[in-house]
Amino acid sequence: MYNILMTYDNTEGLDALLSNKEFKVDIHNKPSQEELKELIKDYNGLLIRSEVKVTSDIIDVAGKLKFIGRAGTGVDNVDKEAATKKGIIVANVPGGNTISAAEHTIGLMFSLARHIPESYKSLKNRKWDRKNFVGTELFGKTLGLIGLGRIGSEVAKRLNTFGMKVIAYDPFANQEAAKNNNIELKSIDEVFAQADYISIHSPLNDSTRGMINADVIKKMKDGVRIINCARGPIVNEKDLSDAIKSGKVAGAAIDVFAKEPPEDWTLIDTDKVVVTPHLAASTDEAQVRIAKEIGEVLVDFFTKGIVRNAVNAKK
Ligand code: NAD
Ligand code: MLT
Repeated sequence: MYNILMTYDNTEGLDALLSNKEFKVDIHNKPSQEELKELIKDYNGLLIRSEVKVTSDIIDVAGKLKFIGRAGTGVDNVDKEAATKKGIIVANVPGGNTISAAEHTIGLMFSLARHIPESYKSLKNRKWDRKNFVGTELFGKTLGLIGLGRIGSEVAKRLNTFGMKVIAYDPFANQEAAKNNNIELKSIDEVFAQADYISIHSPLNDSTRGMINADVIKKMKDGVRIINCARGPIVNEKDLSDAIKSGKVAGAAIDVFAKEPPEDWTLIDTDKVVVTPHLAASTDEAQVRIAKEIGEVLVDFFTKGIVRNAVNAKK
């Protein structure tokens, strides 16, 4: 019998795991770090979403743990090095929410360009104001992508059809593949200098943490708009807020934050900032797809020894 700890309470799509007699699944919804440290000692497998942080002190006491399943894409909330040292597999579901995240990114861009949230709020307050909500077209503008992986590529594909010129910075992207998809790969400074919209789709790591800050914003076009549906700490929130207040940046659309839920509301309270509470992956389709896949990956790992979707497996 394998003991599995689930740290979220939506079991939709997990039938294969829950009905399997070889597994006992306990749900403890969003445990605190202290609670998790105590709980984890008894479990062979752990299922998490983005709220729970699997830090090295948790891994240190996880004597029986063999598998951490991330029901989602980003694995920046797991200390992968500590897991690897202990021989614990960390697996995610890399493509399960790609389309949802790409669609949400584009929804935020339209909201920003056409003042949809503010005009909605104004009309709901019984004001018929058309003068203050004149927008801009996306057509003919340059979209600069930071990160041309799964989500960045799907965003590019869709916005190409809206008549945007798509340029991208990604140190690992393939020049030929980008060209075939009508995307020009550029240096990061060229993207900053040329883009009307900058949309971030890179992982959070040492090279991207704080990447969008006051220094690089100076290199951007006046009136640039910035969208972040990747990870909050990639953007320095205070610097972005200041740049919007000064008029350098025309607006921003943000789905992810330095701390979630936020502790500092400066950026959220700034005018011309469209916000959603980390919703890019929150669709019925993506949630079920991800739950189903991570459940199958976990079952195969324990019952057949098959390692799939591992982000830390030794070669
Ligand atoms: P991916 O791994 O397919 O793509 C990421 C790309 O970023 C890769 O091509 C990689 O080469 C590139 N990259 C790495 N370092 C870079 C750097 N320093 N500068 C520029 N590019 C760099 O990942 P994905 O599935 O497309 O996810 C992209 C991001 O979106 C991740 O941060 C992920 O956690 C986040 N995400 C957020 C949500 C949400 O709900 N808001 C949903 C899904 C994914
Ligand atoms: C992801 O990385 O999959 C998304 O940010 C959604 C989530 O955190 O669950």
